[in-house]
Amino acid sequence: MNKELIQNWINKVVDESGLDEPLYSAVKYVFACGGKRLRPLMFLSAYLLSGKLITDSVRDFAVAIECLHQYTLVHDDLPCMDNDDFRRGKPTCHKMFGEANALLVGDTLLNLCFTLMLRSAQKDANAAKAAYEFSLLSGGAGVIGGQAAELNSINFAEQVEDIYYKKTCYLIWGAVLCGAIMGGLDEKTTLALKEYCFNFGFAFQVYDDLMDITEKGNAPTNSYVGLFGVEKSVQTVKCCTQKAIDALKEANINSDYFVDLALRAAGRKE
Ligand code: IPE
Ligand code: IPE
Ligand code: MG
Repeated sequence: MNKELIQNWINKVVDESGLDEPLYSAVKYVFACGGKRLRPLMFLSAYLLSGKLITDSVRDFAVAIECLHQYTLVHDDLPCMDNDDFRRGKPTCHKMFGEANALLVGDTLLNLCFTLMLRSAQKDANAAKAAYEFSLLSGGAGVIGGQAAELNSINFAEQVEDIYYKKTCYLIWGAVLCGAIMGGLDEKTTLALKEYCFNFGFAFQVYDDLMDITEKGNAPTNSYVGLFGVEKSVQTVKCCTQKAIDALKEANINSDYFVDLALRAAGRKE
């Protein structure tokens, strides 16, 4: 299980999606510009705890989750949002294809996510439940709500935790919850995974802010690092990572993948 496997699944879906130009090239571009494929890999890792085999529905779900993630980034980079010209060192979608096309690429990826999930749901009742939960976590009271709260915040310091949970942790948790539901994991394991995801996700977002300092020289004022400084942020990353790992241990979840991921994504391991 690695990101190349996910990439093969993505390529197949995009090639069979019936998209015309320029959407086809723009969507291909978005998926060719790197990325860790973190959320589909987390989804799969949770699913595989069940001991079940990978099915077509599981493949569709993995791709669907990455489609939703990439849509959030394409829209997040737009001039009316974060106005970023580069992502992972490459020109952002709107820099390559124009703002209006980038907006439509985001729309396409969001729609494709639920096309894939609903395709699975036609064959599998667990998939229907997972898709419903994912739609809530990624929607206006979830990831989109977090983005909106960040954009419109009056007192960012008071809201920062809620914003980070929604814009980042909800999607990570959404991916893992889909894996847990599709795999039929028990409640204790699922709750421990939730604890893991919220702590890991928070550490992941704060670490991302810290990387802004390394890469761009400064972190936005409206960010955890901008508010609390480097030292406290490093401490928070450490503490949340440990809590994430402890949650797995307490529930006897033996997943080297999840432990390793927490350490790596929080910058504590290559
Ligand atoms: C970026 O997520 C957005 C954040 C929540 C910080 P990723 O770091 O997972 O994005 P990829 O790997 O570039 O797709
Ligand atoms: C991105 O947050 C989170 C979502 C798009 C939901 P950021 O704006 O902090 O992430 P980067 O730095 O653009 O990847
Ligand atoms: Mg951004």
